Amino acid sequence: MPDLPIVPPTEPGDAAIDRPASPAAAVGADVDVARRQFFRRFAGDMVNTAATVVGAAQALRETSTLAAQAILHPASGAATLAGSAAARADAELMVAPTAPGAEGPDGGHAPAGFRTPFRYGEADDVLLVIDQRRLPGELVEVEVRSARDASAAIRDMVIRGAPAIGQVAAVGLALTAHQARQLDPYARRATLRGSAAALIAARPTAVNLRWAVDRLMARYAAIGGAEADGLAIAQVLREEADAIVWEATVDHGRLADFGLVELERPESRPMQLLTHCNTGPLACGQFGTALGVVQAAHNAGWPLHVWVDETRPYLQGARLTAWELKQAGVPHTLVADVAAGFLMSRGEVDAVLVGADRIAANGDTANKVGTYTLAVLAARHAVPFYVVAPLSSVDPAMADGAAIPIEERPADEVLFVQGRPIAPPDTAARNPAFDVTPAALISAIVTEEGALRAPFGSALESAFERRRARRAAEPSPFRRAPAGDQGTELRPGQAHGARA
Ligand code: MRU
Repeated sequence: MPDLPIVPPTEPGDAAIDRPASPAAAVGADVDVARRQFFRRFAGDMVNTAATVVGAAQALRETSTLAAQAILHPASGAATLAGSAAARADAELMVAPTAPGAEGPDGGHAPAGFRTPFRYGEADDVLLVIDQRRLPGELVEVEVRSARDASAAIRDMVIRGAPAIGQVAAVGLALTAHQARQLDPYARRATLRGSAAALIAARPTAVNLRWAVDRLMARYAAIGGAEADGLAIAQVLREEADAIVWEATVDHGRLADFGLVELERPESRPMQLLTHCNTGPLACGQFGTALGVVQAAHNAGWPLHVWVDETRPYLQGARLTAWELKQAGVPHTLVADVAAGFLMSRGEVDAVLVGADRIAANGDTANKVGTYTLAVLAARHAVPFYVVAPLSSVDPAMADGAAIPIEERPADEVLFVQGRPIAPPDTAARNPAFDVTPAALISAIVTEEGALRAPFGSALESAFERRRARRAAEPSPFRRAPAGDQGTELRPGQAHGARA
């Protein structure tokens, strides 16, 4: 399939940053302008790219409150949202599907498709993160100014989803490096190390978190650690964080396209997909993983319908996936998780698409609890079962799924729904947040380097090689590190944390 280029989104009518011909073209004199523009808006309307996933996206036209206006159109100046206190939006987002390429109400590009959960504020010293605990009722942003804020946001589920928490952790650590630029070098080192440890500890299962933090700490070490100048450290860590966001943007677009190729389209009826948890931009920062494939199919004009598992107990499917699909205009129906077997037994599911929080070297995959059940059901009913995830979700050091740490969350999430008890007082409850699907039940793992099939060990190793070559050929356009300094990629078999 063609390798589709992705260019940074542009502000309608903003000639200064008018779309570089390629990411590489941004390097040079205008790098700062382009960089600032991309990273200011990377989470605003990730729409104007050439990737299939958004190339013909549905238009999302917000018609709601000032808060929604400010979040969806940060450049409009319609309102200032400075953190959680500011926004109590009855954010009603209305979707007005339009033809591909339709113009927005301002005559520019219509904001379209899913939206992403974080963006830099007006000053680059704050990341505004959508509080996902309040969705779908309220669209509210909270401020992240440091690694400490980022750790709290991740731990408290303000931001969640494996790729997204990695990105927010990276930016949070870079913000702390900025704050610490004037500190004594050893105090700065202690601050960075402590922050890194706190971020990694915030949630245990999604490997993207550790992977992102390790990348930044590897850069810190590479430029001299405590010996390096505070300003240089801040700049390098910010570049690394930005590179992580940039790469995710490119990679998620690619894996959506690979996923699209993978799906078998029924001839005479809409395709029926089933998904679990939330794998859209809210979870991933960019187009999404499994839901990115859905969006790509929808954008390609395929008639389709999505069964959305509600995803007990935290209800990411009901609260977040349904919200995202509604914005994107994708037909969908919410079902109780336990309905999946019934639907498959009636032939009403053509494929299951799920994400991943950690993929072991042999392909065993940890994902939201309930995924394993779906995989068993899919095998029973000969329904293809796809894991869609970037290679940053692969932990090459973990031989198989048995050792993947599984987060156990509070029992109250099982015992209460929206603050109301659903079981007799003192009922015991257990709440494992993830489960592990054996590789043997997975039809393919769709990554940014293609759809991989068993045996996954060698397929993953080749995919890492392809990614390394691609990264060398297309480094982040916003990185000013010396040529050849690509030293932050883990190799198969190398433990995370080995360089930090
Ligand atoms: O506990 P969460 O909401 O952070 O769950 C993680 C996930 O979003 C899912 O497991 C998802 O399927 C993989 S990440 C796109």
